[in-house]
Amino acid sequence: TSADVVVFIGAYLLGSLSFAVIVSKLMGLDDPRSYGSGNPGATNVLRSGNRKAAALTLAGDALKGWLAVFLARQAAAAFALDATAIAGAALAVTLGHMWPVFFRFKGGKGVATAAGILLALDWRLGLALLAIWLILAKGFKISSLAALLAALAAPVLTWYLLPQSVYLYAVCVIAVLLIARHHQNIRGLLAGKEGKIGDKA
Ligand code: G3P
Repeated sequence: TSADVVVFIGAYLLGSLSFAVIVSKLMGLDDPRSYGSGNPGATNVLRSGNRKAAALTLAGDALKGWLAVFLARQAAAAFALDATAIAGAALAVTLGHMWPVFFRFKGGKGVATAAGILLALDWRLGLALLAIWLILAKGFKISSLAALLAALAAPVLTWYLLPQSVYLYAVCVIAVLLIARHHQNIRGLLAGKEGKIGDKA
């Protein structure tokens, strides 16, 4: 329906707000697309040495993922849309983050945004994956490795907690997109060249 389309486009536009770029600009820092991995994401903003900017990027990108699902759920209740609209918003906010219309379609890898999405879909799922990510990040000290392993765990946990739901499809697609966006990191990991969290650019 047209309401589904509005929800999808709204979520895409919300996702297109690249907080790495926005926060860096507001704080007078270099554009994160110009140093380190070049990725507009919290991990790369941390390479600037500014922890506050990295934390704000993480929070902003997670919040937009959460908000997209939350607002889609409100719209679904108000306009009698089914769960497909909510799953669609989860996918659309991810697409916006990865290919933002406001930033020449050069976006991030989707880790923080996925965390917000999962928390909004099911807080148990979100918290479980956040815990997994945190333990892996503390253990390996490699942001991409923690994200990739959490992305592999996400469909399994979703299948367990939200079985036979359209959300399972959305989480699978998001996980595949997230992993695909990490192709350079995967090459770096295999070559043993992936840097540690917080290493300066
Ligand atoms: O959040 C993205 C992270 O997993 C990797 O970022 O900058 O190391 O490519 P980066």
